[in-house]
Amino acid sequence: MDWGMENRMAQLIQSDGRCLFLPIDHGYFQGPVHRLEEPRKTLDPLLPYADAIMLTRGILRSSVDPGKAKPVILRVSGGTSVVGRDLANEGIITSVKEAVRLNAAAISLSIFVGSEYEHQSLLNLSQLVDEAQDYGIPVMAVTAVGKELAKRDTRYLALCCRIAAELGACVVKTYHCEGFEEVVRGCPVPVVMAGGPKVDTELGVFEFVYDGIQKGAIGVNLGRNIWQNDYPVAMIKAIRAIIHENASAKEAQELYDSVKSGESRS
Ligand code: 5RP
Repeated sequence: MDWGMENRMAQLIQSDGRCLFLPIDHGYFQGPVHRLEEPRKTLDPLLPYADAIMLTRGILRSSVDPGKAKPVILRVSGGTSVVGRDLANEGIITSVKEAVRLNAAAISLSIFVGSEYEHQSLLNLSQLVDEAQDYGIPVMAVTAVGKELAKRDTRYLALCCRIAAELGACVVKTYHCEGFEEVVRGCPVPVVMAGGPKVDTELGVFEFVYDGIQKGAIGVNLGRNIWQNDYPVAMIKAIRAIIHENASAKEAQELYDSVKSGESRS
């Protein structure tokens, strides 16, 4: 691996081999989602606990202080909206040159395997890998399901992750599922877990994060289950403990409860 690529990967994946990525890119197709209406306000208290942040160039420039930022995973696919025809019909919305200008540690795009736009999104990935490779920038592929959340089973996610790795992604972001170890086993590059819509209880989040880490994920790219929680700092600290301190789900819950008692409600 070339020095630049290795250096960027080291910014993302910490010396223990784990990572906590905090995505706030949801507005690129969902608009001002609940508790991300003002990205700077959401991000500022959480930034110290994130290893990297995932966002679009618009929110990076408008809402993140360049002097205080964490490594950036730049979202470069989009061009659709929740009120449009098909979320899978994404193109590349930001060039690799712009990613270099913004000093991104990685770029990220969604692939929509099994959708009408499967071919297009997979070519987006391959072309982006070709270009990003020239500049030593790792690509993180997101196995997206659009509105079809029920698609998130082992067989489907294993298929998506393997395809993403085969096409050159350096990291793959996917969902936790039953039999998650099969997804990780079939994917020769590091896997991080997304959260999806907010889970009913904090313990539910801690349990799936813990389980996924035991089964080989290197960390998370977890958004709504952190910043839509009433106590987001308590939440991110607890998840960080699972990832970087090998805390159990129960220990994470205890940490959440103790931090929460000193944090004012969002
Ligand atoms: C949106 C994304 C998000 O980064 C991803 O879904 C992670 O966020 P959450 O944990 O809220 O699902 O890629 O397409």
